[in-house]
Amino acid sequence: MRETNFLIENNARQLWHPMAHPADMQANPPRIITSARGVEITDIHGKTVLDGVGGLWNVNLGYSCDPIKQAIKDQLDELPYYSTFRGTTNAPSIELAYELAEWFKPDGLSRAFFTSGGSDSVETCLRLARQYHRVNGQPERTKFIALKKGYHGTHFGGASVNGNQHFRRNYEPLLPGVYHLPAPWPYRNPFGTEDGAEIAAAIGRLFEEEIAFQGADTIAALILEPVLGSGGIIVPHESFLPLMREICDRHGILLIADEVITAFGRTGAWTGSRLWGIKPDLMSTAKAITNGYFPFGVAMISETIAQAFESNKNTLATISHGYTYSGHPIGAAAAIATLKEIRRLDVAANAAARGGELGRGLDGLKARHELVGDVRGIGLMWALELVGDRAKKTAAAKDVMQKVQDVAYEAGVLVRTSGANVIISPPLVITAGDVARIVAALDAGLSAAGGR
Ligand SMILES: Cc1ncc(COP(=O)(O)O)c(C=O)c1O
Repeated sequence: MRETNFLIENNARQLWHPMAHPADMQANPPRIITSARGVEITDIHGKTVLDGVGGLWNVNLGYSCDPIKQAIKDQLDELPYYSTFRGTTNAPSIELAYELAEWFKPDGLSRAFFTSGGSDSVETCLRLARQYHRVNGQPERTKFIALKKGYHGTHFGGASVNGNQHFRRNYEPLLPGVYHLPAPWPYRNPFGTEDGAEIAAAIGRLFEEEIAFQGADTIAALILEPVLGSGGIIVPHESFLPLMREICDRHGILLIADEVITAFGRTGAWTGSRLWGIKPDLMSTAKAITNGYFPFGVAMISETIAQAFESNKNTLATISHGYTYSGHPIGAAAAIATLKEIRRLDVAANAAARGGELGRGLDGLKARHELVGDVRGIGLMWALELVGDRAKKTAAAKDVMQKVQDVAYEAGVLVRTSGANVIISPPLVITAGDVARIVAALDAGLSAAGGR
């Protein structure tokens, strides 16, 4: 690796960063992370902090997971790459598909389509949903319904079902035939209530109305995150997903659960679908499946959809979709090792326990700091929404957000800010002591930003 001065000098010069203005990155270069151990990361200046971001919601087991590293090294020696396109396959992807069918049995999902990440998995689900209806003799079912504030990656399909204009405007026009419902969000919604059950019922009514307006036989699928992540950690009322499932069933609409963040334990349950007691027709996953050590994802498919494709001998059922790295043997080997580790360490249980502690700590911060307008989350995905005025719920200024983040970092914890939200998504293996560190660092950040 080049020396420190070269890296600092060239930071953001030739590299355009995702979700950032290139000129802003040049003016305010990002922190250069050079190493990591356990749940801590170290920057180029030698400062070590607790990673309250968990990489990017993906390094659930932290940075020192030797079984995954070893599986990657062994697989590199054995077979560094071979394609799974028609005609060839590789051993780790066969084994992983078997393991995933077991893993997702409680969700009713039994077939795996491998991808290179979350956006690919979402795209795969959207495409397979349309194709399923063709295979099933209903080719006019092509439309998608999604939630405002939802995040589904950046491919054109995913961006089209995305529910945040921030990710849409510069890339319009997007896919036609996509319609959005309000998010199940007590803090901000158009229904004039903070009651989660009422909000869920109101969205259900809007969904029914939209179906009647569009014609049920034109709608392919509803896509949603069981807990909305990037949109600011919106935890729906427990009645919401069962209601959406029931409406979809009544109208022959598929339900795609986008679990790129929520699969593999982050909510305190092994999947977000299980958390709410529903079975999706398709599920997009990625991120934690390899603990972030290799770019990999999987779209999981229900038995009903699988049967429709597998029993149809027509070319309609040929899957004309896939990626060079679908079923990459290194990713598959990493995922097999990851599944073993997350099961052994029961990270979902730890996410639930530490999440309870973290939630109580963040509630304490709200009690102490006027700046905190809302605290919301579940398991180990939390947000503090910062406001300039609590009564009016005006978003906190950009420099306030930066101050909170910078001071928290100085105090030993990296957190992420997104708009007026401070997002906390640490590895799922954190201890009670780590939770206390996160709360203390945020306390320092909020105090410095003038929140006392
Ligand atoms: C729910 C959800 N879907 C899709 C994606 C896109 O995943 P990727 O960034 O791996 O393409 C993300 C990424 O954060 C996500 O949170």
